[in-house]
Amino acid sequence: MADPSTDQFTAVAEVYDDLMSVVPYRWWVDYVERLWRERSFWPRRVLDLACGTGNVLLELQRRGYAAEGTDFSAAMLAVAARKLRPGTPLWLQDARSLALPGPPFDACVCLFDSLNYLLEVDELRQAFAGVARHLAPGGLFLFDMNAIRALETGMFDQSGCGSDDSLEYEWRSAWEPTTRLCTISMEFRRHAAEGTQVFYETHRQRGYTLGEVRDNLEAAGFEVLAIYDAFTTRPPTARTDRFHCLARCARQP
Ligand SMILES: C[S@@+](CC[C@H](N)C(=O)[O-])C[C@H]1O[C@@H](n2cnc3c(N)ncnc32)[C@H](O)[C@@H]1O
Repeated sequence: MADPSTDQFTAVAEVYDDLMSVVPYRWWVDYVERLWRERSFWPRRVLDLACGTGNVLLELQRRGYAAEGTDFSAAMLAVAARKLRPGTPLWLQDARSLALPGPPFDACVCLFDSLNYLLEVDELRQAFAGVARHLAPGGLFLFDMNAIRALETGMFDQSGCGSDDSLEYEWRSAWEPTTRLCTISMEFRRHAAEGTQVFYETHRQRGYTLGEVRDNLEAAGFEVLAIYDAFTTRPPTARTDRFHCLARCARQP
């Protein structure tokens, strides 16, 4: 197993929602529901795997789902807990070894390239197997991933500000083609009346081929229903930067 970095999603948790203020989470959940409804699928209990600060969970709850979240960053979950309905189940767990209490879920979502943070094929398969263990037979699993193209063409080379001038960031990425690992060095400057706080995180993502994704889903007990160019119902192309994958739990009751 790859060494789990301790400097991912720690300090960044408190500024994450500011950084994501432009992300249309409501529209993302519209897309999730569209893919469910196209298959006449009406889940009630939904698991948000790697839920981070809970933005998808919040939107699922608003729409009446019984939604629970899990993530391995205590700092991200602490932010989520402040925003979500009191008592929302939030589980501090590693996606590679999921063991949640309670009955199986009808559906699982895992959005915003969270699965790219699993750096070995075996880890991806462990996460898929964990989701399969927690889904009811026939349950749907929808996730997105950064495509290799996005990681190798420097998608993470970014600098900018948060929603106001109080936060600045500078990210630089390095791509290693043989391992397909992308290392992103992040520097943040947070300006406040007391002075400027500078902090750093190093994130690592792996790029997976569609074949690896399919094979490992099937090995974990899923039927792959579709892989789409992100936020569409068209197949991925050579220019796809992000894809969504929809799979059905084929496990027998
Ligand atoms: C880019 S954030 C996405 C968060 C959230 N899904 C969203 O849409 O805003 C990636 C999340 O994956 C989580 N993560 C990364 N590796 C994980 C692992 N092995 N197990 C559980 N969560 C993990 C991080 O802690 C982080 O919250």
